[in-house]
Amino acid sequence: MTANPYPLGLRLHGRRVVVVGGGTVATRRVPALLDAGADVLLVAPELTPALRAQVDAGRLHWVPRRFEPEDLDGAWLVQVAIDDPMAAASVSAVAAERRIFCVRADDRTAATAWTPAVTRHGPVTVAVLGGGDPRRAMTVRDAIRDLLAVRLGSDGTASTRGRPGSSGGARGGTDGVGAAGAGGATGAASAGGAGGAGGGRRAGRVALVGAGPGDPELITVKGWRLLTEADVVVADRLVPGLLLDELRPDVELVDASKIPYGPSRAQEEINQILVDRALAGAVVVRLKGGDPYVFGRGGEELLACAAAGVPVTVVPGVTSSIAAPAAAGIPVTHRGVAHEFTVVSGHLAPDSPASLVRWDALAGLHGTLVILMGLKNLAAITATLIAHGRPPQTPAAVVQEATTGTQRVLRSTLGEVAADLLAADLRPPAVVVVGDVVGTLDG
Ligand SMILES: C[S@@+](CC[C@H](N)C(=O)[O-])C[C@H]1O[C@@H](n2cnc3c(N)ncnc32)[C@H](O)[C@@H]1O
Repeated sequence: MTANPYPLGLRLHGRRVVVVGGGTVATRRVPALLDAGADVLLVAPELTPALRAQVDAGRLHWVPRRFEPEDLDGAWLVQVAIDDPMAAASVSAVAAERRIFCVRADDRTAATAWTPAVTRHGPVTVAVLGGGDPRRAMTVRDAIRDLLAVRLGSDGTASTRGRPGSSGGARGGTDGVGAAGAGGATGAASAGGAGGAGGGRRAGRVALVGAGPGDPELITVKGWRLLTEADVVVADRLVPGLLLDELRPDVELVDASKIPYGPSRAQEEINQILVDRALAGAVVVRLKGGDPYVFGRGGEELLACAAAGVPVTVVPGVTSSIAAPAAAGIPVTHRGVAHEFTVVSGHLAPDSPASLVRWDALAGLHGTLVILMGLKNLAAITATLIAHGRPPQTPAAVVQEATTGTQRVLRSTLGEVAADLLAADLRPPAVVVVGDVVGTLDG
């Protein structure tokens, strides 16, 4: 008869854990041990490149040889990550002699401890054991992870919110599996905020979230999770509509593109909305196209919140400056073709006194130039680049509404792209790519 395992949360910070083996199993196990702060000793004649990188970075100690019993001196736990049963058995025999728990990758039945399938959600860790069946554990873990993604806040507190698009509240807790709330901060930039949404339980906060270039699946997992927690979403014109479509009906949606006044006044208005809602206790997501800090004015919004004492989390996004070329089959760098790429705004004409861009210097570069917001001034921009030495036959492309169902791609040359653009009637949002990488992957 096999008795049930007894679940524990091991607090390994500063404690020696010995990992025997340097292959793929060890590569998968070591990061979680390091995340727990363990003092990891790796014993293996050879390492995978990923483990070697951890060693080179000074994150763990490596003994480049086969296991010897004294390796377990001072150890609290040993992970045997080798598939040679004889060698594994001899490690676990030494561990048993010394009363050190031993996890075995080669034979779970011979192990004195099992590693569970794990999902982490802020400070909450859920560990699932499947009665010796790792697949069962993973299936259950995946289901719980999906549930927690929508029912717990990033601070690990139970949310009264449901998944976007679904109704009803939720309670916290994970009956039947181990769930440990360790407390602690969630990476907020500053303290502040008053009151709390949901009966004063939490203070207001702002998350500046990059929504990605257009495909709703290109938001990050963290960005998506924060969106599911929001009371208020302040969205830009270019954020994927489907993301908004899935918000809960009770979420206040502020369409930032509809705020009147000129661009700078509108920005002040947006800053004020973020601050006011957060100070009133709301969880606010400022959802921005691409990455919040790439021509996104995210920095101004962060400073405004910080000045008001509102905590801010910044979640980077997939920027159109890289995603749009990629979606058109254009890598921004390619070995032997381009060793640099430069992202530049074309919203001001090259001869504008307000322009901060050295177009003459950019013309001298050999690599890839990615121009955002450049359609209106494209004729002037291409003429300036050519006048300062970039050859007119340099390949160029325009990618409109990249990663969406209405994506369009125009391929041309630097000398002709402005005229071709007009003829093809391409419109913003679009990215212009200049350089030999355009066409590199064409068969
Ligand atoms: C104000 S900037 C914001 C850029 C955004 N923060 C980013 O990282 O992608 C807007 C410009 O980004 C580019 N852009 C954004 N989304 C795009 C898309 N799906 N396809 C092509 N260009 C896009 C266009 O040049 C557009 O004029």
